[in-house]
Amino acid sequence: MLKIIALGSDHAGFELKEKIKQYLEKRKLKIKDCGCYSEESVDYPDYAEKVARTVANGKAEKGIVICGTGIGMSMAANKVLGIRAALCWNEETAEMSRKHNDANILCLGARMIDHEKALRIVDIWLKTNFEGGRHRRRVNKISIIEKKIC
Ligand code: RB5
Repeated sequence: MLKIIALGSDHAGFELKEKIKQYLEKRKLKIKDCGCYSEESVDYPDYAEKVARTVANGKAEKGIVICGTGIGMSMAANKVLGIRAALCWNEETAEMSRKHNDANILCLGARMIDHEKALRIVDIWLKTNFEGGRHRRRVNKISIIEKKIC
């Protein structure tokens, strides 16, 4: 798996996306910036889908998406097969979303948390591993749900 992090935001998350991008690049991580590229108003599902497909296709190991609340991004990203997008608002939820849920996309609400907290969340989310074991069984059950034809 490529050690690339896909980033995406709408206008509300643009400033924080740029901050996260700088922060990760300083740490020598490879970034795929899926946009948006300014604070001009855009629609969050377009960017959630770009990041989600990049991760689902194996072009990035993980993704981070940011909108005003993080809610729209998480709803949209979770529509893509194979994506487990977690909306995290503190270090604990970030850690648990990796340990227990094997989240492959982190969703942040730029209007809900300050930038310093967001960077701490990103940090812990990227360095925490999935615990597996009984959590693997539960995550597998999520995959079974998404493969059922409705
Ligand atoms: C944009 O105003 C806002 O609706 C969006 O960033 C996000 O919060 C949606 O969930």
